[in-house]
Amino acid sequence: MNKSIDTETLRQWLASGKAVTVLDIRTEEDRAQWSIPRSIHIAAYEELKAGRPGALADAVLPADVPVVTICNMGRVSQTAARALQARGFEALFLEGGMKSWSLAWNTAEVPVRDNRIRILQIRRTGKGCLSYLVGSRQEALVIDASLPPEVYLELASQHSLQIRYVLDTHIHADHLSRSMSLAKASGAVLLLPPQGRVHFPFTPIAHGDMVTLGEATLTALRSPGHTLESTAYVLNGEALFTGDTLFLSGVGRPDLHADASSAQDCSRLLYHTLNQLLALGPDVLVLPAHASQPIAFDGLALVAHLGEVAARLRDWLSSEEAFIEHILKRIPPTPPNYTRIVELNESGVLPEGDPTDLEAGANRCAVS
Ligand SMILES: [Fe+2]
Repeated sequence: MNKSIDTETLRQWLASGKAVTVLDIRTEEDRAQWSIPRSIHIAAYEELKAGRPGALADAVLPADVPVVTICNMGRVSQTAARALQARGFEALFLEGGMKSWSLAWNTAEVPVRDNRIRILQIRRTGKGCLSYLVGSRQEALVIDASLPPEVYLELASQHSLQIRYVLDTHIHADHLSRSMSLAKASGAVLLLPPQGRVHFPFTPIAHGDMVTLGEATLTALRSPGHTLESTAYVLNGEALFTGDTLFLSGVGRPDLHADASSAQDCSRLLYHTLNQLLALGPDVLVLPAHASQPIAFDGLALVAHLGEVAARLRDWLSSEEAFIEHILKRIPPTPPNYTRIVELNESGVLPEGDPTDLEAGANRCAVS
């Protein structure tokens, strides 16, 4: 029988720094969409699929290190693993391929000055979704949960934390929110920005509302633009959870659900929102909900000071008109399946079967 490895085991191998060669055999085009950090690439897919195992005959790979072969769905990678086994390598194929890898994650502790709080950044590496576990004393809250509830419950328990609140920054269009299911599983209060979009019960958290957690205070700042209900949260004056409003070197797209003229209105709102957020001061840490690249297993949090982010965006923000023009010119392609994802996020029902069918691919929430 052909040897395989599942996403969870490969995730643990990479997180622990184990020596492994991750060999991506997909086409250039597929690889350009998203990939596994530290993987190497030999575009052997078409050859192997056509029954020519010689495609990997000359591949130079480190000896005495296991090789994990990767394709889109975990089929052609089996042929790749067999070809390498025949050459004497310990080769395994990744079960379910990149589709399953969509749920792989890693974590990084966010360095904060305030020793009353801890922030763990939980990164869905392939899709680039960033969520946060915030702890103070024995209490915790989770922001923008994008992974199955068990992941957060396990991390909270490892850090001796009880999840009290679960929050989203907005109704997501790029991934299925797991916030409602996490709130149910943990008994936590589900807090969402006030809006009439979702069809399930939640506790609204409006501009200026505060949540107390141990010795921490989280304050809601309404930040319309990416969506109308978008809300950022500031923690103890030090960390700013920006959702998809502000990234480390870009801003949220203002166009989903919008026609051309309302995309313009949303860009205008976003301009004013960004100026308000930047006024919080240069030392505040920006903690966004997405990264645009697959996230390395390096334990380094993706974070920047508001001052650095402001410097990167200085030209964009020179005037309202310049900003709107800049944004509307650079909007990326519409993410696949986003209408269905929004529909599910508004209904609060996770799809039957495998959610990664809908979520495949990298996220496209940013203009950068
Ligand atoms: Fe979004």
